[in-house]
Amino acid sequence: MIVNVAIDGPAGAGKSSVAKAAAAKLGYIYVDTGALYRAVGLYALNNGIPTDDAASVSGCLKDIKVELKFSDEGQQVYLNGENVSAFIRTPEASMAASNVSAIPAVRSFLFDLQRNIAKENSCIMDGRDIGTVVLPDAAVKIFLTASPEIRAKRRYDELIAKGQSVEYKDVLDELIQRDYNDSHRQVAPLKPAQDSVILDNGELNLEESADRIIEIIEEKIG
Ligand code: DC
Repeated sequence: MIVNVAIDGPAGAGKSSVAKAAAAKLGYIYVDTGALYRAVGLYALNNGIPTDDAASVSGCLKDIKVELKFSDEGQQVYLNGENVSAFIRTPEASMAASNVSAIPAVRSFLFDLQRNIAKENSCIMDGRDIGTVVLPDAAVKIFLTASPEIRAKRRYDELIAKGQSVEYKDVLDELIQRDYNDSHRQVAPLKPAQDSVILDNGELNLEESADRIIEIIEEKIG
């Protein structure tokens, strides 16, 4: 039996870490759909295409091939045959992803890829519109969130640990801007699905959040 779990929520809620841990425990694959929007954003950045110009971005989609591959190291994202997983996590790529994700043509361009993975694999898929649009029939839907300040602090600690030099205030401002973009766009805005379980993990660490997610999944699928 194939089980699909949708985890949506704002940037920095810890979706990827928590989903990865829960997927490993349950033996499901973990699908990070943000990487797809980041790959499209990266293409635009690398080719001098303004990421908020819907016509130019839509026009370049015919030149883009995005693929996801799954290995023991987890998901890898390929852009026109090149593994770009290491280049999609910068603040510039984050904002580019948020901009291109508001463009309807980009969302439909990436839709089938996401649907087909879920059709063929038990997975935990994270994003912004997985429970509402991509997998409306998912067996389990979770909306993971925390306050902007807590999410910005987590993101800041992560970037500092990676050796990037950033200011907390800039990380917080960028996150608030992305929250606004992601939840106010016309198509597939970030919002909890009606039948989702809302989990505020502001007071939970990674392990506690993953345990709670696994409990929710087990309660739902029995
Ligand atoms: O999850 P993330 O931070 O890697 O996502 C990057 C951007 O992509 C985010 O700002 C919004 C967009 N996104 C989306 O619109 N829909 C998804 N399912 C996943 C991400």
